[in-house]
Amino acid sequence: MSDHDTFDPKVLERLGLLRDKYAAMGQDLVSYLDGLLHADFPTYWDYINLDTLLSLQHPVTQFPDEEIFITYHQITELYFKLSLHELKQIHREKETTAAGMLERVTRVNRYFENLVGSFDIMIKGLDRGQFLKFRMSLLPSSGFQSVQYRMVEIACTSMDRLVHRELRADHENHGFDELDGLFETLYWRRGATELATGKPTLTLKQFETKYRGDIVNFAEETFYTNLRKKWLGLDEKDQTEDLKNALRTLDELVNVHWPLSHYRSAVRHLQTNPVDIAATGGTNWQQYLPPRFQTLIFFPEIWTEKEKENWGKSWVMAQFSSSPT
Ligand code: HEM
Repeated sequence: MSDHDTFDPKVLERLGLLRDKYAAMGQDLVSYLDGLLHADFPTYWDYINLDTLLSLQHPVTQFPDEEIFITYHQITELYFKLSLHELKQIHREKETTAAGMLERVTRVNRYFENLVGSFDIMIKGLDRGQFLKFRMSLLPSSGFQSVQYRMVEIACTSMDRLVHRELRADHENHGFDELDGLFETLYWRRGATELATGKPTLTLKQFETKYRGDIVNFAEETFYTNLRKKWLGLDEKDQTEDLKNALRTLDELVNVHWPLSHYRSAVRHLQTNPVDIAATGGTNWQQYLPPRFQTLIFFPEIWTEKEKENWGKSWVMAQFSSSPT
């Protein structure tokens, strides 16, 4: 008896299904089976592109800790990418259910919790003496130029929420046609002005040359479908406590906890007495980075007035009562 006669019926059934699949596309199953015959078995290292991944860290100085700095930025960008992966699915869904939104927001929260929990790699795990030297070779680049960070913000809320706080109230309920103009008033554009002259920093100019168009396009794409609009569009019965709490957690993670962990790294490495060290991106970072001063809130409707007034305050108090080590 040849092997062909002993085929498991399950194999024969799959062959039949494959034949139908390829026939439907006008393709010849035998050629595809030949392809399968000659194909290599996948390996872990090929599948995740390990060689490429490990070849992407290129320090520009001899200081060993620069590799930590680069790698941790890359890890952060990958978490931003995962966050956007979830947020974009919410934005693209024709019909968003409360359960679907809850699952995706919970995933984003998990990513940001990891980022907040790991920021000590930058705060405690980076030699300050080395950092202060190698950073000079990175001028004028800054994490400020992270476009994915801006896209996370845009995917979460409407543009007026990202306008500098002094102008924010003027732009509530803005229309689609105002998006391009609103770009000029974004909080981070205001932050990135030279201390001495009030002119845009080179860091900002570089960033906008590369990304202004992409950012405005993304704001237009998500105008009707950002997370805030999707939440407001749910029926009241679908605006469950669980979902509301997940959105509150997201708001706090992205707008208070991550910025404050990040701020602690600036305090650790750039704060000196009497004069603080200038940031590579040239902002007045003491005024710019603390969330208390920006009061960014993605979902104002789910916080009380008091909570909004005290935004970021308790953490900052804790920050100043425990000096960085
Ligand atoms: C030693 C570690 C770090 C220090 C001292 C530091 C310092 C700063 C400073 C001073 C700014 C203000 C802009 C400027 O003038 O450059 C800034 C902005 C920024 N940095 Fe960092 N940073 C660190 C690590 C990181 C990491 C790991 C990321 C991850 C991608 C990051 C992302 C950002 C972002 C997104 C902004 C803009 C924040 C906003 O607009 O609110 N930074 N950083």
